[in-house]
Amino acid sequence: MFSTRTPAPGAENRLTRALGAHPRTVLDLTATNPTTARLPVDPSPALALLANPRGGVYSPESCGLLSARKAVAAYYEKRGVPADPARLVLTASTSEAYSWLFKLLAAPGEAVLVPAPSYPLLDALAALEGIELVRYRLPAEDRWAVHASLVADAADRATASGRRVAAAIVVNPNNPTGTSISGAELGALSSLAARRGFGIVSDEVFLDYRFEGRPGDVRVAAAETEEALVFSLGGLSKSAALPQLKLGWILASGPVPLLSAALERLAWIADSFLSVGSPVQLALPGLLAWGDGAAGALRTRLLSNHATLVEAFQSAPDVTVSPLSAGWSAVLRLPAVEPEEALVLRLLEQEDLLVHPGYFFDFPREAFLVVSLLPPEETFREGVTRLVRGLRAWR
Ligand SMILES: Cc1ncc(COP(=O)(O)O)c(C=O)c1O
Repeated sequence: MFSTRTPAPGAENRLTRALGAHPRTVLDLTATNPTTARLPVDPSPALALLANPRGGVYSPESCGLLSARKAVAAYYEKRGVPADPARLVLTASTSEAYSWLFKLLAAPGEAVLVPAPSYPLLDALAALEGIELVRYRLPAEDRWAVHASLVADAADRATASGRRVAAAIVVNPNNPTGTSISGAELGALSSLAARRGFGIVSDEVFLDYRFEGRPGDVRVAAAETEEALVFSLGGLSKSAALPQLKLGWILASGPVPLLSAALERLAWIADSFLSVGSPVQLALPGLLAWGDGAAGALRTRLLSNHATLVEAFQSAPDVTVSPLSAGWSAVLRLPAVEPEEALVLRLLEQEDLLVHPGYFFDFPREAFLVVSLLPPEETFREGVTRLVRGLRAWR
């Protein structure tokens, strides 16, 4: 009856099941919803912008209203990145941007190369399009850098199994490692993509949450290379801490004939859905301006919680807290004395504490834990106290 694009009911993992059956209140150190994180910002001025009476008229444009695309271009220009509104396509979210780019680039059964470790939602998005993900490794020993040779190995594996490679994804900065791709790495990847005829999708939702820039780090891939087709993704969910408003975007670049064809086809996909509401598009200039303040408050929160975490594990030489390079998460590396799943289930059972195991993000080996740095400071501090206590069990 059903297609294989959705999982069978009841296929949730052990942790989700344990969480559902947990009898007590859980302190959630995986929470990444900025609208419930008690940030010291008042959303009412942003929400008031949605009441523009012009929102009462429906006059759709497939790639998004020009005024809204100009607002996104201005957002990039403010960050020193030139962006032509004609190369922007609005979507309801970054997740939708992925799905449109998969439709654009990959036929069912074809392969998309994805980094490991990285953002876990890609599996679901790929399954929904009937495409195959093939992982390329980000080496831990080289601060999770993107090596074109490892991407090429993954492409070879895909080809050997009879699959055309349609695209490679980079998450820049990466979730959860917070690491960025360098100009040299992007250059090598673009050459590979141009040679082998696949596109690059660069997920840049954490663009505004960089704390530790290395010279030469790429911020917006679509502004840095035109050798291959490159699509940079961003959106209000992270940049303005407004995920509930549902507006994301794609900035495209590439060699001219290919780019024009890509934009025309993307417009056709966008026209089939017209999924971005008029009120949010009309409000976009003001929302992005408001979002600058919200992102600032969020950065303060992330830095403060990260400092709490570092301090808590200062006298624990066997636990390494990753530096806060970028993003909303911190990664803890632990000795592999207890399997990650058992550890996370034990923390839930004994400490009423929820953290993510590294395998959720495809870390190459055990043991890693990932915590969100978004919770209110007092909640985070209490969570870290429980984590330290829970980890003491094997120390
Ligand atoms: C790397 C990355 N990309 C995309 C998304 C999804 O963003 P959106 O809410 O715009 O779909 C997330 C959400 O956490 C993310 O971490």
